[in-house]
Amino acid sequence: MKKLVVLVSGNGSNLQAIIDRCHDRNDMHIAAVLANKEEVYGLTRATDAGIDAVVVASKGMTDRSQYDNQLMATIDEYAPDLIVLAGFMRILTPEFVRHYEGKMLNIHPSLLPKYPGLNTHQRAIDAGDTEHGTSVHFVTEELDGGPVILQARVPIFEDDNADNVFARIQEQEHRIYPLVIEWFCQGRLEMTEGNAVLDSATLGLHGYAFE
Ligand code: GAR
Repeated sequence: MKKLVVLVSGNGSNLQAIIDRCHDRNDMHIAAVLANKEEVYGLTRATDAGIDAVVVASKGMTDRSQYDNQLMATIDEYAPDLIVLAGFMRILTPEFVRHYEGKMLNIHPSLLPKYPGLNTHQRAIDAGDTEHGTSVHFVTEELDGGPVILQARVPIFEDDNADNVFARIQEQEHRIYPLVIEWFCQGRLEMTEGNAVLDSATLGLHGYAFE
């Protein structure tokens, strides 16, 4: 049984998709959900599912390393096999990232390496892109720069705004994130020498190709 700790900062719809995928399985389960602030719906989702919901408050903490050390200590109490960032909106220190090397995943709402950082939907619209997407990747010290495992693409139509595109992206996120977590928990996925490796095959720039 692989143990997950999921980190959230908001709504937690990806967390919900993972909770649903873990339901009634004996190969993966969520040991705890951690948030950096109290009033986030992700914590309610965790409590409703009978999962430990823990706040490690970041408000008022100016020292990033101090916060990350506290977060790390809390996570490590659960001895997880995998750390899942699901809309966790904090930049992590290199020490934190190195501590979980090869066992921390993130989902980022763009077709990486395009649009790392924030406001990805609006940036894609403003650039006149007709296609956008989301990426699941291993976390490395480079922000949104770790090896991509799986992407999902969505169209951008002429009259779209960032909200429409966000909704379209989230629908795909709820499909691909639980799937990648499943791969990891089944021992099919690992990070080797900075690459994502699935079923012994090294994945390319855009991860596993669905075509
Ligand atoms: C997701 O769309 C995820 O891609 C994004 O936050 C959202 C969280 O939604 N993550 C980032 O922007 C990380 N840089 P959720 O709370 O409903 O799962």
